Amino acid sequence: VVAALQPKTLRGKKVLITAGPTFEPIDPVRGITNLSSGKMGYALARAAREAGADVTLVSGPTALVTPTGVHRIDVQTARQMFDAVMLHASGQDVFIAVAAVADWLVTNASAQKLKKTADGALPHLEFALNPDILAAVAALPGRPYCVGFAAESEELLKHGKAKRERKGIPLLVGNIGHATFGKDENELVLFDENTEVHFPHAHKQLLARQLITEISERIHMDPV
Ligand code: CTP
Ligand code: CA
Repeated sequence: VVAALQPKTLRGKKVLITAGPTFEPIDPVRGITNLSSGKMGYALARAAREAGADVTLVSGPTALVTPTGVHRIDVQTARQMFDAVMLHASGQDVFIAVAAVADWLVTNASAQKLKKTADGALPHLEFALNPDILAAVAALPGRPYCVGFAAESEELLKHGKAKRERKGIPLLVGNIGHATFGKDENELVLFDENTEVHFPHAHKQLLARQLITEISERIHMDPV
């Protein structure tokens, strides 16, 4: 299907998306990251743009090309992602949190590269909790319609339902199987307050278009 021919279901709407992994430094040459490739977040940014939205994409480190017409802001750490999102959150109609945000940052990161020592002593990392970006946006007055993502390693249906309620958001999307990272295809389940909608295995760009359709139907039905 040709991109330009997608129905303009989000014309005039502003959509903010996080994508990719975050990177939490340990020292100037090392850090903690995760397996997110950013493919699903970028596919959603492209699909939202095709649907006529004004799209801002806050992206952790990825090897992906910016979708045409999308405003991309690059960040590394969860804290930087939080700051960029909060700076752009006001006036957004939809927020889609696809990024795999590090839950913890390293508080004792070294200003210089850590070196092996003669006695073989091991480095000790200390952690602090990162801010929850999705929860912060969902708590804003006049908040956008908030969509979360979840990759669970077990019991997706149970955890997905509970996570949507805990996060206080209208829609949560579960990746079926945690082996989605880096792949071009995926399989999704959508949890809202009434139903579970299953999107069978397909290319991420196709799933992204289906998800954008679901989101646009929901914001037109029941603006939050
Ligand atoms: N998220 C976020 N900021 C964080 C952590 C998560 O915005 N600091 C968002 C993710 O982008 C995703 C959703 O919250 O849309 C769920 O992330 P997930 O890691 O599954 O949830 P957590 O609440 O961190 O729970 P846990 O990792 O313990 O399962
Ligand atoms: Ca997490």
